[in-house]
Amino acid sequence: MDLSIRPRRLRGNESIRKLCRETRLSPDSLIYPIFVDETLTGTRPIPSLEGQLHYGLDSVGQAVEDCLAHGVGRCILFGLPEHKDATGSSAWDEHGVVQEAVRLIKRSYPDFYVITDVCMCEYTDHGHCGALCGHSVDNDATLELLAKTALSHARAGADMVAPSDMMDGRVAAIRARLDEHGFQNVPILSYSAKYASAFYGPFRAAAGSAPSFGDRKGYQMDPHNWKEALKECALDVEEGADLLMVKPALPYLDVIRECADAFRLPLCAYQVSGEYAMIKAAAREGLIDEHRVMCESAVSIFRAGANMLITYYAKELADAMRKGEIG
Ligand code: PBG
Repeated sequence: MDLSIRPRRLRGNESIRKLCRETRLSPDSLIYPIFVDETLTGTRPIPSLEGQLHYGLDSVGQAVEDCLAHGVGRCILFGLPEHKDATGSSAWDEHGVVQEAVRLIKRSYPDFYVITDVCMCEYTDHGHCGALCGHSVDNDATLELLAKTALSHARAGADMVAPSDMMDGRVAAIRARLDEHGFQNVPILSYSAKYASAFYGPFRAAAGSAPSFGDRKGYQMDPHNWKEALKECALDVEEGADLLMVKPALPYLDVIRECADAFRLPLCAYQVSGEYAMIKAAAREGLIDEHRVMCESAVSIFRAGANMLITYYAKELADAMRKGEIG
């Protein structure tokens, strides 16, 4: 055969394959989700998320130690409050579960980077992401609640806040509130393109945040749309977001690519609970190799253009990167 171009030359051995990798990964790009339960002492396995734990306030240090042991230096915190009500008032309680968890972590591990999820759904008794007006979420009334919540997180010492509610105007409202109180340097990671996805099921079971009626289609995005994702990101940029996010990740790689190409801000992807649970379940059935599918999924998300990844696999992925299996 007279073949002058042979792509296989660049695949001949592990060394040249590693040399020619187009996507470089680092544990520095990983963020680990930590669930803190105000009513819990110690830890408890999360039934819907095999291999993940709920942490009591007394054991968040253990969660951090575990991350650090794997070279993961960043987390996003989710709170399970003791008390829920119609407006989600525990969300902005100065001594709420997330606020206390942040204080505890930052006291012992000042260099461990703590991002807080800002949303109402874990705190409202109806499970929606804001205050209700009849049976729908009142956008403008909710902005005040989100701004108060984000401010209370910053006061507790959060390094970054991440609004995940999908209300219109929330980035501007949070930016203004943080700035008014001297938190100009706390960045906002906006869940910009967050879809109304069935992939959040295991998270809602873990966080006790499933809506008690209806669904989130009135505020989260329709999975059919990608131009709308660009519109949401553009609005967040205008409102002062520092980082953008696409969520979920693997079923939305096209959206990640579009947003990576269109915007000059760091782009985060969230490999959500259902993506993780599917890999776990298929591996348990002996259908796939969990480690390799985990690695390939993460590589795909970064290849699509994500600069960072929130994932329940953060610790295992960091190990794989360090061993040179990926990255
Ligand atoms: C809060 C929030 C959710 C997730 C992250 N923040 C749930 C939801 O929107 O219903 C989902 C994360 C996951 O599935 O891993 N609004």
